[in-house]
Amino acid sequence: MVGRGNLPDLGAELRARLPALGQRCAIVTDEHVGPRFGSTVRESLQGAGYDPALVEVPAGESSKSLSAAERVCEQLIAHGLDRRSFLVALGGGVTGDLAGFVAAIYHRGIPIVQVPTTIVAQVDSSVGGKTAVNAAGGKNLLGAFHPPALVLADVATLDTLPERQFREGFAEIIKHGVIADRSMLESLKHFDRKRDIEALIRRNVEIKVNIVSEDEFETTGGRATLNFGHTLGHAIEAAAGYGRFTHGEAVAIGLAVAIHLSVAKAGLTGDERDLVLSCLEHFQLSGRLPADLTTDALLAAMRRDKKFEAGAIRFILTRRLGSGFVATDVTEPDIVRAIDAVR
Ligand SMILES: NC(=O)c1ccc[n+]([C@@H]2O[C@H](COP(=O)([O-])OP(=O)(O)OC[C@H]3O[C@@H](n4cnc5c(N)ncnc54)[C@H](O)[C@@H]3O)[C@@H](O)[C@H]2O)c1
Repeated sequence: MVGRGNLPDLGAELRARLPALGQRCAIVTDEHVGPRFGSTVRESLQGAGYDPALVEVPAGESSKSLSAAERVCEQLIAHGLDRRSFLVALGGGVTGDLAGFVAAIYHRGIPIVQVPTTIVAQVDSSVGGKTAVNAAGGKNLLGAFHPPALVLADVATLDTLPERQFREGFAEIIKHGVIADRSMLESLKHFDRKRDIEALIRRNVEIKVNIVSEDEFETTGGRATLNFGHTLGHAIEAAAGYGRFTHGEAVAIGLAVAIHLSVAKAGLTGDERDLVLSCLEHFQLSGRLPADLTTDALLAAMRRDKKFEAGAIRFILTRRLGSGFVATDVTEPDIVRAIDAVR
């Protein structure tokens, strides 16, 4: 459900749509989002007859860990949640991934309701059922498919996002344009925040839903196109140390590299490349790789990525904007050349 100002409707919507939910529940949120929207969500749930506890975790990627998941579980036990209870993830992708993972394992799985409050979370992480925490050896290595019972995105919550977080969300939107909707890319340069944000979020949820519903458990390859820009993006995050680049900023550099590779390996035209690069620039996402992030370090991080299958690099490329495919003939020298283009 995408709307503006629909956060207070959450309790009533759950009552109407999911009558089997138990009464006891917990809102999992972080220290930035909880103080802003926690009481609205709590009152909405209470108003509909639910009995919510509020569980707050520190903001940031470090909360996507097994130890953070364990601390949340202990609090759920202390609050008396049982197998009929449910969780509400209120926050960005970190909160959604952590709470989703906890919901997947708590009492062998209880429903998760996603209430995303960042662009990344509204157009991407809350939809599709992937949940995970990080391991020392890599990002998102410990997780489960646990599709949400409901996703409620209130675009008004985006008004309090820091500017950097607002802009970085456009990396995933530009990615969606590359793999599924060329005309959306063209419209982005005229994007007006007040006028267009709700329709843009709605369109992006639709794109993600369409792709995920054709390949829910990532077995046929359709869902893999969503990784466009992410093979290198994840390597940048890992090699730079989490926190230096935001996820979106790292993905944006990964997008630029994947676009250069698409020209070299898949016949993408120079005009199409320039359209994508200008979109990144429009949202100040045309970041350059700093010199201390060596190509060797990025290649090493890429080799550890779970998208590496039996040693082969599966790179998502595009032949024509609006579509993507899994390429298996990308070599390390190809990648090195594309990385050089964004230095
Ligand atoms: N599961 C998936 O399919 C999937 C897809 C994409 C990304 N992800 C994951 O999502 C995470 C990134 O998500 P993110 O970018 O939302 O990061 P995030 O959850 O860390 O949020 C970014 C920052 O914004 C703050 N914030 C959130 N909403 C706010 C609001 N409305 N007002 C003010 N501040 C607010 C947060 O407290 C945090 O400090 C990564 O861990 C990534 O791996 C998962």
